[in-house]
Amino acid sequence: MTVIRAKHVRFSFTSYLIILVSVMFIITVVLSFKLLTVDQCNCAVPETIRYYEIKPKPKSKLISSKHRLAVLVPFRERFEELLEFVPYVHNFLNNQQINHDIFILNQVDAYRFNRASLINIGFLQTKTDYDYVAMHDVDLLPLNTNLSYTYPETPFHLAAPNLHPRYNYNKFIGGILLINREHFQLVNGLSNRYWGWGLEDDEFYVRLKDAHLNITRPENISTGTNNTFRHIHGKDRKRDTTKCFNQREVTRNVIDKQVFMMLCTRF
Ligand SMILES: *[C@@H]1O[C@H](CO)[C@@H](O)[C@H](O)[C@H]1NC(C)=O
Ligand SMILES: *[C@@H]1O[C@H](CO)[C@@H](O)[C@H](O)[C@H]1NC(C)=O
Ligand SMILES: *[C@@H]1O[C@H](CO)[C@@H](O)[C@H](O)[C@H]1NC(C)=O
Ligand SMILES: *[C@@H]1O[C@H](CO)[C@@H](O)[C@H](O)[C@H]1NC(C)=O
Repeated sequence: MTVIRAKHVRFSFTSYLIILVSVMFIITVVLSFKLLTVDQCNCAVPETIRYYEIKPKPKSKLISSKHRLAVLVPFRERFEELLEFVPYVHNFLNNQQINHDIFILNQVDAYRFNRASLINIGFLQTKTDYDYVAMHDVDLLPLNTNLSYTYPETPFHLAAPNLHPRYNYNKFIGGILLINREHFQLVNGLSNRYWGWGLEDDEFYVRLKDAHLNITRPENISTGTNNTFRHIHGKDRKRDTTKCFNQREVTRNVIDKQVFMMLCTRF
């Protein structure tokens, strides 16, 4: 896991560059998985995870918000998106006076992408010092300044289906979701069992529903799906959408029946 702490100061372009370049060298939490062999659906739970202690920067006097936000960004090999994401979101949050730090959770092993685990790790790393987290895609930039990142009393789905450029099903809670520490803990975070791209957020939706948490969404947005967010597309973006066995159907089942199952385990 690579971590960036963005200070609450207006940066010059050079300082951005310095910060961004140092991203590659800063703290890396290595999920010590065994190397993936021929089994593309190897979804074993990591045996060891190394933790690094993270302390927030002292609160800037310029920022008035009393809650502290950890922006958790699952990441792998999209450096050009990061170059755009960090300065942009940092500035966006400063304009809203949000007391925040940005954490880039960099998966460095050879396993399939596990967004859920990265977010869980980010939460564990930050929970003592931050009051809420934003589970944030690296390729989604908020454009409308009404998109509020303030402390959410209930889970707040910023990238709502009527605003997200691509996904518009009712139970969609991916993209950007704000959730406070208590609620994240209440539902025991996300399922670690989703490998590859997608579905873990659908299961998280069920967790929130089962805990009777109301998911709220922005209400005063006059922009639409094409101009509320900017979706950054890397040049050769490939998504690992291979599903393990009938993972998709099982997830649907989970959502329909509101039952939890162990997904994508080794058979
Ligand atoms: C509406 O937008 C403003 C910013 O213009 C923001 O402060 C406020 O929280 C928003 N209200 C809701 C319900 O999202
Ligand atoms: C969720 O919303 C319902 C109806 O608006 C309300 O009765 C309930 O108290 C809310 N639950 C929480 C946890 O806020
Ligand atoms: C922001 O919210 C206000 C109401 O709070 C609304 O009048 C305005 O149209 C919104 N602006 C945008 C760009 O969504
Ligand atoms: C967004 O789409 C609407 C119609 O769907 C169109 O009128 C508008 O110009 C589009 N805006 C942008 C920024 O592309």
